[in-house]
Amino acid sequence: MARHPSDEEIRKLHDVYASSSLDEAAGIYDSWADDYEDHMGGVGYSHPAMVAAMLARHQPAGSAPILDAGAGTGIMAGILGAMGYPTIYGFDISQGMLGLAMAKGFYKDLRTGCLGEPLDYQTDQFAACIASGVFTQGHAPLDGLDELVRVTRPGGHIVFSVARSYLGEVFETKASALERGGKWRRVDATEHYDSTPLSEDTLIAQVYAYSKDLCVMG
Ligand SMILES: C[S@@+](CC[C@H](N)C(=O)[O-])C[C@H]1O[C@@H](n2cnc3c(N)ncnc32)[C@H](O)[C@@H]1O
Repeated sequence: MARHPSDEEIRKLHDVYASSSLDEAAGIYDSWADDYEDHMGGVGYSHPAMVAAMLARHQPAGSAPILDAGAGTGIMAGILGAMGYPTIYGFDISQGMLGLAMAKGFYKDLRTGCLGEPLDYQTDQFAACIASGVFTQGHAPLDGLDELVRVTRPGGHIVFSVARSYLGEVFETKASALERGGKWRRVDATEHYDSTPLSEDTLIAQVYAYSKDLCVMG
């Protein structure tokens, strides 16, 4: 059966899901970067809107700086700047994606970095951290959340999408371990939604908001 054109457009996303290393994933994004926003727009890519809305519900406008983990081509910085978050930092494993983000001029600082490894930022450096479309198979491991918590200030928020591949027991095990350790507290979660609603595939996800709350700091 012929595939819907919009599914062809996100074939590279499925290639990343199947990738066996982060180098391979970064290479796929490098080669996709120029067409990424066109293709994701074509399938109604909804993570950036969901993550931005959730951040705005909990983190006051004017909060700075915000860290955009897995920044890609910089879609989030465009949205957050317009919503009144003045200073955005970002990192990504793909130089090709970062090149497009840099060209937009929305970020104060962009660098290569990898969720799942130590991040090159100071503890408590950021008012909030976000990650849109990054915690999913073939991309960032959930252990990457540890570093996002470390670099968020007490009282700040960590807001991120989690794809179907991690939802349920895998995510709850990681999230509760951090909560039991006094590292963060869940403050909000969306319902399930389809992150590519114009595609034939249904890619179910949720967005979560956690607070690095002073009262639970160990
Ligand atoms: C689906 S794109 C999302 C990009 C952007 N956040 C957005 O919503 O448009 C996933 C991005 O995560 C990056 N990425 C994948 N694994 C990563 C990791 N472990 N650490 C940092 N970035 C990663 C990819 O290079 C890619 O730019």
